[in-house]
Amino acid sequence: MDQERLYLDFNATSPLSQSVSGWLKSGEVLFANPSSQHSAGKSTRKIINESRTQIRELFQKSEKDFQLFFHSGATEAMVTFAYSFSEWARLTGKDLLVCYSKLDHPAVTALSERYFGPQVKFLELHMTQDLEYDHDQNLKSIQDKKDNNPDLIILYHHLWVHNETGIVSALEDLKNLKQIPDLYIHVDAVQAPGKIVNWKSLDVADIFTFSAHKFGALKGIGFSFLNKSIPFSPLISGGAQQSGLRSGTENPQGVKSIALAFKDLESINVQKTITQRENLESFIQEELTGKGEIISKRGRLRSSNTIYFYLNNLSSDIALALFDLNGLMISAGSACSSGAAKSSSLLLHMGLTQVAKNGLRLSFGFDLSEAELSLIKQKFHSILAKVK
Ligand SMILES: Cc1ncc(COP(=O)(O)O)c(C=O)c1O
Repeated sequence: MDQERLYLDFNATSPLSQSVSGWLKSGEVLFANPSSQHSAGKSTRKIINESRTQIRELFQKSEKDFQLFFHSGATEAMVTFAYSFSEWARLTGKDLLVCYSKLDHPAVTALSERYFGPQVKFLELHMTQDLEYDHDQNLKSIQDKKDNNPDLIILYHHLWVHNETGIVSALEDLKNLKQIPDLYIHVDAVQAPGKIVNWKSLDVADIFTFSAHKFGALKGIGFSFLNKSIPFSPLISGGAQQSGLRSGTENPQGVKSIALAFKDLESINVQKTITQRENLESFIQEELTGKGEIISKRGRLRSSNTIYFYLNNLSSDIALALFDLNGLMISAGSACSSGAAKSSSLLLHMGLTQVAKNGLRLSFGFDLSEAELSLIKQKFHSILAKVK
């Protein structure tokens, strides 16, 4: 077994950023409840407030226009907004249409299996064979629904950077959709920070959601920006912390970790990571000749760090074990909780039925050294030599 392993699964979760791990090593624990009125509580509140200001400044989202609230991560946020919009529709006697793609993260696709009330319907968006949104067709389908039901409220989910392929769906392309009245766009920005050049430009949409563990901060926390003009019903109610947007004792340690991780991300040279990915991708392409194919190359716009591919004759569960034993910790496109290979909705969508269980994802960090890059190539070469 190869003892020297390289972690290439940053899209699943990233290691802690330098500032976050340095801070945790310092031993500072923000134990006091920020809602408490004593000095320990107040000093924790101050840290939360400073972190909030830093996050707002980074994304240029002012208090005047956007609410900012923390939650446990994007999965909670997806349910929160579906619930909140369904309440808005119910309370106003209107219908709600939730638009999503079957290629979205399961945090979104699973919404269509839940019951939010008789007023809520789902519309599956059309995606092209090259895994892009078919905006013209989707615009037409939504416009038809709106014409038939002028009071319709629409919650439109948009996956900015795909978690498996790294394919980027630009926010500018959503502009035409915003012409439809009562249509609100929720951007799943989970995979964007540090992986695309314009990750700080939160344009066009109304809601943006992030998960902290994807960019070097702690797990179990995320945040959303919500346009202030949108009525909101909290999914989690209780002690009215965070102005009632999401009750429950706040997580100061998590909040500070977000601010620290973003500070580190600001100095990332995205273009440098793109060049490294291109270099690695050319190498992998050669190695895969006659043995598989890189899928993510089909995207017009790409994230800096992700290569999605398949092997012709090896299902992802077996391939993962082979890669892991030989020193590369990568990930399957999709796996069930038992670890057995599951058909990938992406590969099925592309008509690649024969290899639908064979999808593999390699996603690396932003500060890969040249030595690591050549080690990845070396290991990849010796793994592929074992594949028929
Ligand atoms: C694109 C995308 N959206 C949503 C999620 C869900 O995030 P979390 O598991 O942090 O709630 C993930 C996590 O993998 C993701 O990659």
